[in-house]
Amino acid sequence: MINLANKIALVTGSGRGIGKAIALKLSEAGADVVINDINDTAECVAEEIRSTGKNSMAAIANVTSTADVSVMMDNIVAAYGKIDILINNAGITRDQLLLRMTDEEWDSVLNIDLKSVFLCTRAAVKYMLKQRWGRIISISSIVGLAGNPGQANYASAKAGIIGFTRAIAREVAPRGITANAIAPGFIDTDMTQRLKEEQKQELMARIPLGYLGSPKDVANAVTFLASDEAAYITGQVLAVDGGMTMV
Ligand SMILES: NC(=O)c1ccc[n+]([C@@H]2O[C@H](COP(=O)([O-])OP(=O)(O)OC[C@H]3O[C@@H](n4cnc5c(N)ncnc54)[C@H](O)[C@@H]3O)[C@@H](O)[C@H]2O)c1
Repeated sequence: MINLANKIALVTGSGRGIGKAIALKLSEAGADVVINDINDTAECVAEEIRSTGKNSMAAIANVTSTADVSVMMDNIVAAYGKIDILINNAGITRDQLLLRMTDEEWDSVLNIDLKSVFLCTRAAVKYMLKQRWGRIISISSIVGLAGNPGQANYASAKAGIIGFTRAIAREVAPRGITANAIAPGFIDTDMTQRLKEEQKQELMARIPLGYLGSPKDVANAVTFLASDEAAYITGQVLAVDGGMTMV
């Protein structure tokens, strides 16, 4: 059984969806979890965790803002004295065919899905380096591996996360810090509920296991990578996709 007792974890965008499932699972494994989101859903999830007798704190912050991220990290270190586990999960989609894609649709996805990963990781690594232990797990997507029409912005951001993860994995490895990415496939959340029925059917036909993944499937993989059991795994991309992208 994975034991994250005495570990402090931050999960970005964990007010709902996959991030919330990750936060609940890390808490179940014993970690004290900081729930970040841009709105007060963060407080609701932190309260839900506290109601189980575990420790949790909300951090309402926009992860695309250097100032917000800096204040959030300072508050975490002031409250807990350290940060051990960073889960870069916050993300959005703004789908559009290339010729119709606006600068705003490109910039917002690149900022929320990729720049946030840089900002949060830079801020957290500062503390992880000193303690010579850390886990950075970023939520990419199989779209970052295989592409998808109408998602040039999202695919670029999610592929960017993979390059970023491999670069920093090499940088911080000598200090006992690992960095990995998870590439979820088609997971049943608010993000995918927006898809049209025919798009869903078409995607389902491409999943060898024959069913949609749940946020818990992603949370289980994240929790393993966050543990001591995964100490020798770094710079990897783990697809949690029912076999959609197997090569
Ligand atoms: N759902 C899927 O099938 C799927 C597949 C592959 C990858 N992913 C990735 O998993 C992650 C979570 O997806 P989800 O389906 O749970 O999405 P979701 O929309 O349900 O949740 C995303 C959360 O991020 C928060 N957020 C957005 N912008 C933010 C900001 N600037 N600062 C702080 N928080 C912010 C939102 O408020 C929301 O609570 C995303 O990175 C997404 O790209 C999802």
